[in-house]
Amino acid sequence: MDKLTLPPVIAIDGPSASGKGTVAQRVAQALGFHYLDSGALYRLVALKVLQDGHNLDDETQLADVARNLNVVFQDSAILLGGCDVTDDIRTEQCGILASQLAAYPGVRAALTDRQRAFRQQPGLVADGRDMGSVIFPDASLKVFLTASAEIRAQRRYKQLMEKGINANIADLLQDIKNRDDRDRNRSIAPLQQLHDAQLLDTSSLTISQAENTVLSWYDEIHAKN
Ligand code: DC
Repeated sequence: MDKLTLPPVIAIDGPSASGKGTVAQRVAQALGFHYLDSGALYRLVALKVLQDGHNLDDETQLADVARNLNVVFQDSAILLGGCDVTDDIRTEQCGILASQLAAYPGVRAALTDRQRAFRQQPGLVADGRDMGSVIFPDASLKVFLTASAEIRAQRRYKQLMEKGINANIADLLQDIKNRDDRDRNRSIAPLQQLHDAQLLDTSSLTISQAENTVLSWYDEIHAKN
């Protein structure tokens, strides 16, 4: 595809449980854009590895799992090998394993083309850790969406309680801090605020306020071009 005709991308990166997925989905809906939840791909690899019992030290084997994932995104449902795994990939176990597997360059490389294929007209909102740095470095708008670890742990606790899942807020906070450390300090595609990304701290914002901030930044860019 000619670079000039490439559909626009809004890249929203940020740490675990920052609310970037909810904000990204709402921005995509408001603009009529496609949506990529890149974390779901890493979680799917994790789920497949758990199901099939692969060796967690064998990067080549794990990269093969990532390359051969049989996944279909169907509206808001995610099918792996034809089975609905929408809820299964959201467990803490899958999130923690996803973060470990994501440190392997081979696994990341195996998922690159699959992520770029989401870039379709009229545009894409993509969320993750390396959307602005590696997958879509030419994104029209890059946002680094974050919130304090304590607020993120409280939000995750509330979500789990609403689903009837028991949780301990101190454990959630520790998991979030461990995941932040791993995602920030890995040598390949680490989570970072890029110099050309807008910082959006949602600690004291509602979801609507965060969504409207991203939409207004995108409008400003549009008005200039
Ligand atoms: O966004 P999430 O919490 O669902 O992502 C799960 C893990 O996947 C996260 O801890 C790190 C990894 N990940 C990544 O390395 N790069 C991405 N673009 C998205 C997720």
